[in-house]
Amino acid sequence: MYSINEVTTVGDELVSSRGTLYERLRELSNIIGNTPVIELRKLVDPSKMARVYVKLEYLNPTGSHKDRIALYMIKDAVERGLIKENTPVIEASSGNTGISIAWVCKVLGLRCIIVVPENTAESKKALLRALGAELVETPNVPQDHPQNCRNVARKLAEELGGVFLDQYSNVANMRAHYETTGPELWKQLGGRVDAFVMGVGTGGTIIGVGKYLRERKGDVLLVAIVPKGSPVVGGRLGEHIEGLAESLVPPLFNNNRHIIDRVIEVSQEVAIDTIRKVIREEGILAGPSTGANIYVALEIAKELGPGKIVATVAADSVWRYPELIK
Ligand SMILES: Cc1ncc(COP(=O)(O)O)c(C=O)c1O
Repeated sequence: MYSINEVTTVGDELVSSRGTLYERLRELSNIIGNTPVIELRKLVDPSKMARVYVKLEYLNPTGSHKDRIALYMIKDAVERGLIKENTPVIEASSGNTGISIAWVCKVLGLRCIIVVPENTAESKKALLRALGAELVETPNVPQDHPQNCRNVARKLAEELGGVFLDQYSNVANMRAHYETTGPELWKQLGGRVDAFVMGVGTGGTIIGVGKYLRERKGDVLLVAIVPKGSPVVGGRLGEHIEGLAESLVPPLFNNNRHIIDRVIEVSQEVAIDTIRKVIREEGILAGPSTGANIYVALEIAKELGPGKIVATVAADSVWRYPELIK
C-alpha cells in the first residue's frame, strides 16, 4: 500500500484568481530556458573532427532541462481548464522532473503530489518535501503492476480529482523542446548544426529539438542514446544512467522514432568515465547522462570530420551526484 507521508498546503493566496496564475506562468517562462551553449575546446581538435557544442541545461532554475517541460505541461493543463486553483498536480518521478514540477507548483501556489519509487535517493525526497510536495512512496515494481508509480499516480489523480501530468506520454513535454530548446540552439549556432545527439528518457528533448532542426535543415543527423541493454533497443533491463530509459520504451519517443537516424547504446561505465574526463578537461560539471551525450557527440564529430558542427545537451549537473566524483 502507499501512503501520503507529508501533506503541506502551499500559498493558496498565490492563485486567488486565474489572472494571477497566468501572470506567474508568464513570469516563469522568462526565468526558465535561454541557457548558454559552450564549445568543447580541449577534447576537440577542429582540424581533425567536427566542432562540438553543449547546451548547459543545468543552468535552469532547479538544475535541469526538466524545468522547461514542467512549465509547459502545467501551462497546457491550465489553458485546457484541467488545473484550477485547488487541483492537485500529480506526477510519478524519482528524479529531475519531480523536482521541476514541485518547484513550478511552489511558485504557482498549486498543490503538488509526487509519486516516487521507494528506492529514490533520500536527498531527492528531502528536496521534494522542502519544495512543499507531498510524497507518495511505492514499491519498485514493473510497469504493469498496479503498485508501479505511474499506475499509482494515475489512480490518485482519479481519486483526488487531480491532474496526472505523465511526462512519458504528454505531448506538451515534446512541445517545450520544439518551441524553446530547439529554436534557442538553432539561433545560438547561427543555423549551423549538422548533428544533434541526446539521451532518451521520455524522448521529449530529442524529438522536440530534432523536429525543429529537421524542419530547418532536412539533412541534420539525429542521434538518440539509450543505456546499454535498454528496451528501446530490444533489451529487457538496461544499465542505469540516471534519467535515461532503462526499463521502458517511452511512448513519446516510440511514436516519433521515424525522425531519428540512429539509436546508440552507451554503458554506465563509459558515461561515468566521460563525465570525469569532461570535468577535468573542460570544466563542464556534467551529470551521467551528459557523459553519455558527450561521448557519442565526440564519436559523431570524428565521423563527420572538420567543418561540421555537432550539438548536444548537459541535461543536469554532477552537483546532483557528488558521490560520482569522490
Ligand atoms: C539527467 C537526464 N538526462 C536526460 C534525460 C532525458 O531527457 P528526455 O526525457 O527529454 O528524453 C533525463 C530525463 O529524465 C534526465 O533526467
